[in-house]
Amino acid sequence: MNIYQKAQNQVLEELIKIKEAINKIYGYEAIHSIASRIKTPNSIVRKMKKKNYSLTYKNLIEKINDIAGIRIICPLKNDIYHVVDIIEQMPNIKIIKKKDYVSKPKESGYSGYHLIVETPVELEGRNLPIKVEIQIRTMAMDFWATNEHKMKYKTNKKLSFLDSKKLTIYAKILNILDNKMMNIYEKQRKS
Ligand code: GTP
Ligand code: MG
Repeated sequence: MNIYQKAQNQVLEELIKIKEAINKIYGYEAIHSIASRIKTPNSIVRKMKKKNYSLTYKNLIEKINDIAGIRIICPLKNDIYHVVDIIEQMPNIKIIKKKDYVSKPKESGYSGYHLIVETPVELEGRNLPIKVEIQIRTMAMDFWATNEHKMKYKTNKKLSFLDSKKLTIYAKILNILDNKMMNIYEKQRKS
């Protein structure tokens, strides 16, 4: 776990520098906040069992991409794409996978931009590429995902079909608001 913590810290340090640089250059906060977490051993085992992977280190390293996780919250939808562009240019970070659930939300309504990146971490004189999952969301997307996750996964009381549908509709409403908020901002910026 230590090596994932190291990888996470390296990426976090770079992101914090970037957050400050963007603020200085543009006088605008394209990154509202950054949070991080390391997956607990219990929850790693649960995920491997759920996905039917045998519990080997090889599977852990190759198949579980989100042991180290970083979440970046942006005020506006467009900021997400700016942040992705910037991460793509970071020298010590190699992008392994990109998932754009911003332009194409999941069926549940979930929206967000996911990057699986690799960063080299030094261990006993050698550099090992370690994976980190970066999720980039607007505040509205994060509001939805946090509450939906709490209601769907963090309890053994199942949501009714109707309530599930409602959550999907609320995600769509929030998506409309995200677009409207961005339009007002863009109009003002261009005026
Ligand atoms: P996982 O096996 O759950 O990691 O999913 P995946 O390998 O298909 O990757 P994906 O990029 O689709 O999802 C990764 C993460 O995004 C999840 O662990 C959640 O944190 C978040 N996520 C994806 N779908 C949903 C959703 O419907 N609701 C919520 N609340 N979060 C989601
Ligand atoms: Mg996950």
